Amino acid sequence: MEKQDDQPYRVETQQATVTTMERMNIEPCMSLDRADPCMIIIVGASGDLTARKVVPSLFRLFINKKLPDPCVILGCARTGLSDDEFRNRMKAACLDSDKTNVSMWQQFSKLLHYTRLDYETLASYQNLAKHAGNLDTEFGTRGNRILYLAVPPSLYVSNAEMLGQAGLATERQNHGGWSRIIIEKPFGRDLTSAIALDKRLHEYFSEHQIFRIDHYLAKETVQNILTFRFANAIFEPLWNRNFIDHVHIIAAETVGVEHRAGYYEQTGVLRDMFQNHMMQLLALTAMEPPSLFESERVRDEKVKVYRSFRPFLSDSLQDYLVVGQYGAGMVGGKRVPAYRDEYKVDPDSLIPTFAMMKVFLDNWRWKGIPFYLTSGKRLARKLTQIHIQFKEVPHSLFRQTLQEDILANRLVLGIYPDEEISLTFQTKSPGAKMCLRSVNMDFLYHKGFSGTEKNAYEKALLDCMFGDQMLFWRQDGVEQCWSFLTPILESCETCGDRAKMLMPYNAGTWGPKAFINLENS
Ligand code: BG6
Repeated sequence: MEKQDDQPYRVETQQATVTTMERMNIEPCMSLDRADPCMIIIVGASGDLTARKVVPSLFRLFINKKLPDPCVILGCARTGLSDDEFRNRMKAACLDSDKTNVSMWQQFSKLLHYTRLDYETLASYQNLAKHAGNLDTEFGTRGNRILYLAVPPSLYVSNAEMLGQAGLATERQNHGGWSRIIIEKPFGRDLTSAIALDKRLHEYFSEHQIFRIDHYLAKETVQNILTFRFANAIFEPLWNRNFIDHVHIIAAETVGVEHRAGYYEQTGVLRDMFQNHMMQLLALTAMEPPSLFESERVRDEKVKVYRSFRPFLSDSLQDYLVVGQYGAGMVGGKRVPAYRDEYKVDPDSLIPTFAMMKVFLDNWRWKGIPFYLTSGKRLARKLTQIHIQFKEVPHSLFRQTLQEDILANRLVLGIYPDEEISLTFQTKSPGAKMCLRSVNMDFLYHKGFSGTEKNAYEKALLDCMFGDQMLFWRQDGVEQCWSFLTPILESCETCGDRAKMLMPYNAGTWGPKAFINLENS
């Protein structure tokens, strides 16, 4: 276990050891049926998200024979491109990550098509619908469509409405063609705008057609949280206020704002990471067992968690929340600039790039147990972990031989970089004298696994093709989270001493020193 001087929480990143483990029988987990033939219409196909995530993930699904057959990918955006130009752009994006699959690329590229879309003109969407209809007929995709909005959030409403007006949201009865829309977070920027966005989406799409993607949910080890908790009898009896002292959920990043200042200056860490990813990790850790592993039942239980948030009192915000902004520093051996010196960031920006929050859930299981949520950019290491800190033993019979208190058990659910589960407990050190030592029992998630892994976007795209919404946000969950966060954001953003609240920290550290107090308070 590593502990750095300036590191306020312990992080477990050592190479773990598993002594015995059977080779897994992976076949049944890998052989999903293929989804119905479909067309994936990517709106915003000339942009960054399409090239970085969407098309490379579709390519990997194709390589692993998971894409429906037939399948057509129709890109559209304001930029005028021919099919071949679009293919060339995507080739660079796909083969960049995997140069070995050139021959597979030749086959995959035939699925890619492109048409120009003027976002403001209905006639242009009608042309898109016509083009899609022609491709349907040519390739046999049966009128099934995924509409992926890979555009800035400011375009969600107008894009969705125009797609609807052009008939692309319409589903035909009796398996005559389904239509699903994928939108990326942020789903609004507060409660009011989230409700407004949803209302507009529902003018053309029903809830079963709306897939609000959160890539954290589709990460393997995030999905494993439910399995770990509810497929084992031994942990659940301990998973409550009687045995757990606190929970700490950490999503630390080394990257800064990169080229996304336009977006980040409007969002900051609370909207970018807390309203979505952190809330999902919290829900999976804290929820009650659903009666069945089924989309609506799982999502019902998550919403119940959000309903039990204890609201923050605006006059004692500092007892529950620390926000910070990175200054210049060293990350990975390289000098990096302060947030305010980043490209296109306001030199007086008060946008937080770090936050730590102490949250309470007022329900039977968790009453009085703090959940700490920490996330920030330009921190010392990229790390995503959930720490379950158990209570200390009620009475130490070793008090005469030990100088210190016995360290309480800690369970770490590692999501990144080590996908592992690690339990810390006490043993006797070998030797004549009675000494204790803390050891880890570790499980490496991929140990013994030889199949092909799916990244989070592949999993989310596949689930959407199958119409499974379990790993997507439901609107009531979105609204509950905004109900909790909106007053906090308003207090942070409107208070007179906003600048004073924002704690500076050097890039490459673990964040502002002030938040150590939060964990100890
Ligand atoms: C995104 C945020 O949703 O998640 C980014 O917008 C953040 O700011 C990213 O960097 C982190 O995702 P991951 O999978 O790298 O932890």
